[in-house]
Amino acid sequence: MARFVVAPGGQVAGRLRVPGDKSISHRALMFAAIASGRTRVTGFLEGEDCLSTLHAVARLGVTVQRPSPGEVIVDGVGLHGLRAPQGVLDMGNAGTAMRLFMGLLAAQPFDSELVGDSSLMRRPMERVAKPLRTMGARIETVDGRPPVRIRGGAALQGIHYDMPVASAQVKSAVLLAGLYAQGETTVVEPAVTRDHTERMLQGFGAEVLARGGTVTVRPPARLEAADVAVPGDFSSAAFFIVAACIGAREPVVIEGVGVNPTRTGLLEMLALMGADLRLVNHRTAGAEPVADIEVRPARLRGVRVPERLVPLAIDEFPALFIAAACAEGETLVTGAEELRVKESDRIAVMARGLDVVGVRNEVLPDGLRIEGGPIGGGVVDSHGDHRVAMSFAMASLRASAPIEILDVANVATSFPGFADLARSAGLRLSEGTVS
Ligand code: S3P
Repeated sequence: MARFVVAPGGQVAGRLRVPGDKSISHRALMFAAIASGRTRVTGFLEGEDCLSTLHAVARLGVTVQRPSPGEVIVDGVGLHGLRAPQGVLDMGNAGTAMRLFMGLLAAQPFDSELVGDSSLMRRPMERVAKPLRTMGARIETVDGRPPVRIRGGAALQGIHYDMPVASAQVKSAVLLAGLYAQGETTVVEPAVTRDHTERMLQGFGAEVLARGGTVTVRPPARLEAADVAVPGDFSSAAFFIVAACIGAREPVVIEGVGVNPTRTGLLEMLALMGADLRLVNHRTAGAEPVADIEVRPARLRGVRVPERLVPLAIDEFPALFIAAACAEGETLVTGAEELRVKESDRIAVMARGLDVVGVRNEVLPDGLRIEGGPIGGGVVDSHGDHRVAMSFAMASLRASAPIEILDVANVATSFPGFADLARSAGLRLSEGTVS
């Protein structure tokens, strides 16, 4: 089993670049696959999750080439050009791939079956299957979980769907099915979630109307290929943003990061905690805003995290919990029950890890209360959750003894090259295996 050992005494410094955005990379491949013409994706995240999408797209009959690192050429087959795959489609650890493909495949004339690794096979899929069934899709889960079996040939009807959970994955799956439905499809979100699907579909020529948490798509005659430049992943930058707050002596700059406001809730949370953050060098990559993020070391204080920010930072809580552990006083997170159904139960797994390194905390049904204080060493089990593993690596910057982090192979799902980048930024991280 792969592990990290991170010695205390590290300090981060310099200018860093993180790999491409995972959410945008998945979407770029899927939308390009059903567009007409050739799409060139640059800055593509070559992590295992997005490679699962890439392999699935190829198995659906789409020609995909990878001429250079981060560059993918997709020869779109048009809305109705996908072909039946041989055998099951394996999504690995990627919840986004599975859920978005459910929407796309529900509308195809052929049957398909989606599976994943042991973590993904435990995750809830009815949240997507239900609205798709309302549209007319024929879709089965097993006790609400994968394998997901989709019967092709269903005629889909547009729906008006009030989402019970704030989920960009559910929203995106319904919108993708809506591309093939009769009539328009509207999704209403209970809280704003990441809007990469809406932005990118517009870029591919679809008629998408998004206003105040209501998104409507009209079935287009065709999607037009459109090149996609993928910005750096804010969710990967998050570890180094927190690291710079808690473990730097001088400013750290993370360059070329996607700063779509539906993703940057962590910046607001850290600012409330007293962090010194600045976005500079604003530009755009296609429909997405991009900036460099400048972080100066600061004394953090505990806060009550506003619940409205939760969906805007849904992947950043493991990192935020480490910032909270380093803050003065108590941090309270509530309204975040969704964390229990991510790659691991991130409330339980983070709480156990914090216990190991001596940070007092109290588990709540929908969040965590953390008392900032000294951090010790110990052996933390990440339960195969990439973001838990990377977060505890950052905790080493304030630890008094080495932190050993177990089951870290899945870091490669979202952040290939993490260990090298962490070392070059100043962490004392070594990799190894344990039996
Ligand atoms: C994602 C949406 C989020 C997030 C996931 C990626 C996406 O999930 O946690 O890592 O790309 O749409 P939910 O929409 O289920 O909250």
